Amino acid sequence: MRKKFNHFTVLLAALIVIFSSPIFAAGESDFPPSYYDIVAMFLIAIIIIGFTAIVYYEGRKGVAEEEEVLVKQPSAFAKFRRAITKTTPVETEHELLLNHDYDGIKELDSQIPPWFLWLFYITIFFSIVYMLDYHVFNSSPLQDEEYQLQVKQAEVERAALMNSGAFLNEESVTLLTDAAAIDAGKQIFATNCVACHTADGGGLVGPNLTDDYWIHGGGIKNIFKTIKYGVVAKGMISWQSQLNPKQMQDVSSYIISLHGTTPANPKAPEGTIWKESDSTAVASN
Ligand code: HEC
Repeated sequence: MRKKFNHFTVLLAALIVIFSSPIFAAGESDFPPSYYDIVAMFLIAIIIIGFTAIVYYEGRKGVAEEEEVLVKQPSAFAKFRRAITKTTPVETEHELLLNHDYDGIKELDSQIPPWFLWLFYITIFFSIVYMLDYHVFNSSPLQDEEYQLQVKQAEVERAALMNSGAFLNEESVTLLTDAAAIDAGKQIFATNCVACHTADGGGLVGPNLTDDYWIHGGGIKNIFKTIKYGVVAKGMISWQSQLNPKQMQDVSSYIISLHGTTPANPKAPEGTIWKESDSTAVASN
């Protein structure tokens, strides 16, 4: 009966350990589990299954008799099992019987099995290594530090994405006024747009980009939108496949910087007057 209970507890412990680790590790970043998590889970499972097998084997009928036979020439496994469990044979158990009896329940003064002691020593060793690593030499980051590192890493990635303009669209785009952006925009305009809009933005095939009149709405958001999607039916192509969002922002900002300049041959105004106070609204084409 006592042995049966042992099997049950060991099995239960095994199940709890095996199934609890994924529950505790349920953070998003922990999925899929790391290589080390998997190795650790397997090791734990192997240890538990191994000891369950040993305990079960111990409890089997006939093991004691088998052992008698084996005493003369014990197998390597039997030696190993004896060494790690140090169990007392049933026949000599009475020598260990403690001197009390509670309602028929007796107690043996058995030795602590060496495997259990070793497990205990290993945890002590582990705790020392852990403490030195995390708290003395500070060679591994603590939870808080680890979080800060992750935040920093995310910021770097975010900055890289921002630079490529991944978050820029006609709703979020803002007017840039720094010389670098205007210069970049001027370059893009010179390479792609002058054929139809002329170098000074006065207009040729396309309309004058320097006056107050806009066919598709002025302001950074509308201009960005016209460049991004184009007005294909009227001969203005969509540029989103050739320019990234940051480049479209640069060239839009450059076009706005041309406002009020006097082109050599300005085309007559087309569209309607655009007031900058409307610039938060995206005009519907
Ligand atoms: C093949 C000729 C052509 C090229 C190249 C071209 N455009 Fe256009 N663009 C047009 C035409 C035509 C229109 C007028 C569309 C309409 O009437 O609706 C226009 C309109 C625009 C408008 C809207 C003007 C308004 O009044 O609303 C903007 C902004 C613009 N172009 C920017 C650019 C930029 C920036 C480039 C280069 C990246 C470019 N265009 C290249 C022909 C061109």
